[in-house]
Amino acid sequence: MGVFKLRRASKAKRILPRHIAIIMDGNGRWAKKRGLPRTAGHSAGSKNFKDIARYSNKIGLEYLTVYAFSTENWKRPEEEVRNIMNILRDYLKDAKNFKDENIKVKFIGNIEVLDEDIKELIAEAEEASKDATGLNLNIALNYGGRDEIIHAVKSIINEGLAAEEIDEKAISDRLYTCGQPDPDFIIRPSGEYRLSNYLIWQSAYAEYWFSDILWPDFKPKHLEQAIDEYSNRNRRFGGV
Ligand code: IPE
Ligand code: IPE
Ligand code: MG
Repeated sequence: MGVFKLRRASKAKRILPRHIAIIMDGNGRWAKKRGLPRTAGHSAGSKNFKDIARYSNKIGLEYLTVYAFSTENWKRPEEEVRNIMNILRDYLKDAKNFKDENIKVKFIGNIEVLDEDIKELIAEAEEASKDATGLNLNIALNYGGRDEIIHAVKSIINEGLAAEEIDEKAISDRLYTCGQPDPDFIIRPSGEYRLSNYLIWQSAYAEYWFSDILWPDFKPKHLEQAIDEYSNRNRRFGGV
């Protein structure tokens, strides 16, 4: 009975962020630790991503944004990039699952330059899940925060907006995340303490959570730990 009361007390305090953004980092080191090729780490990371997305949907999260491939990741060996794109293809071919799971998927980033077949699979995945009412899942692919802002500035110029018309909303409305709430909480496993060009405009007032866990080892219980910590943060947004 005592234990039951305690659990209820801690549950009552839990505040679920509306929007969580995750930097899925550490796949390579996870594989290296096991004497496996980096690709094995990316496969394990991809599987883990599906588990975490499903779990996020189950607990009623509204928005989850995951960093899958950055504008800087093209610097990697060609073979590694090819392997990552192939893992993405496999994931997208499974697209009907988003619909079954009531997860609405959206890709953010510069998709235009990707291979034609990937672009088609992305369009199919977005179309197949467009009426889902559960989790909104953003997958950041060929995404860079600076690239996104450049893209927004170009749109503003092409639309012929006057200087007086430029405010925060004018910029936010032209980002890939247009119409979505900013991330409340950014999670980066793998022991790195940086944003790596992720959601740099949107994260102006986000809370952060870092951990040494490598992405393939990041489980729902770690997400719960992070959310518990978030629940204890005092967000002031510059006020008192
Ligand atoms: C993240 O894992 C996946 C991508 C960036 C595509 P990494 O591949 O960066 O793994 P580490 O950081 O080398 O361990
Ligand atoms: C950030 O991880 C990008 C993704 C997780 C997709 P990186 O491994 O590319 O970041 P850096 O190079 O450590 O900053
Ligand atoms: Mg990395």
